[in-house]
Amino acid sequence: GLLDAKFKAKGRRYYGAIADPNTLSNTQVQTLLKTEFGAITPENSLKWDATEPSRGSFNFGNGDQTVNFATSNGRLVRGHTLVWHSQLPGWVSSITDKATLTTVLQNHVTTLVSRYRGKIYAWDVVNEIFDDSGNFRQSVFYKVLGETFVDIAFKAARAADPAAKLYINDYNLDGPGNKIDQLLALVNRLKSRGIPIDGIGSQAHLILGQVGGVQAQLVRLGATGLEVALTELDIRIPKDVTSAKLSQQQNDYATVTRACLAVSNCVGITVWGVSDRNSWVDSTFPTYDSPLLFDDNFAKKPAYNGVDGALN
Ligand code: G3I
Repeated sequence: GLLDAKFKAKGRRYYGAIADPNTLSNTQVQTLLKTEFGAITPENSLKWDATEPSRGSFNFGNGDQTVNFATSNGRLVRGHTLVWHSQLPGWVSSITDKATLTTVLQNHVTTLVSRYRGKIYAWDVVNEIFDDSGNFRQSVFYKVLGETFVDIAFKAARAADPAAKLYINDYNLDGPGNKIDQLLALVNRLKSRGIPIDGIGSQAHLILGQVGGVQAQLVRLGATGLEVALTELDIRIPKDVTSAKLSQQQNDYATVTRACLAVSNCVGITVWGVSDRNSWVDSTFPTYDSPLLFDDNFAKKPAYNGVDGALN
């Protein structure tokens, strides 16, 4: 792909985007994935509610379709995500004893990671485990098992696919504060007790004109010696969208691209959508719009030129 090839020429591994059967059904999405992007993250199909809706009963239809599209087109895959408090079926959140939850967690991680062994570049093993104050989120995993749930998940993932890079992934790591401090402290504890962690994902769901902090925090993440990546990049525009705002977005995308290039172990960038017509922003933030590189009609936006320009 074009962006991907230019990014690789800078010594990076991939410039990626998301997909799933609902967006792959559009041939223009498929074409852009093939021409521009080198990695695919399944948007929803590998999450717990999609893969293990009831205990021990697994469903890989959509996950297989997305992973097969990626691998048959020579694209890398980021597996997203093994352990997350959201899109988590009720049967998991109602578990109250350690032994059961440990078994359930190990079985879920082992089953998913084994199924795609050899096909996944990196797994988001744990996702969004800190709240915005930097405390552990009070998920069923933390409440029942404490911090150990992280150890259990990473160890099971490593055992099931020793070649996959294992990531911790979170949002709001774009500015200083207790959240990134606590995430870094946890990474250090994991390393010191020998837990197999390879990477830190910074989601980077950003707002127009507020991207100046990305590089400094990425430098801190990279200083752990682990690989780092921007895993869910988008830059949403407060309505109404104007041409001035679209050129600000171009600058912002360039700034974020350069932030990754400034950190030698920033291996990849994934944008959280191909076209503005398929972004989570529309439903979650009704007063924002147009966060991606291609518009509703799949035409390149100024934002695309922002990335491209930073890579030239
Ligand atoms: O699958 C059901 C379908 O059966 C039902 O008919 C339909 C009706 O609403 O909902 C479908 O589920 C939706 C699901 O996406 C699959 O399309 C959910 O409503 C919807 O809430 C869900 O949104 C996803 C969101 O995660 C859930 O938290 C977004 O597509 C996805 O882009 C978003 O991605 C997250 C990352 O995983 C983690 N970081 C934040 C990021 C943005 O929220």
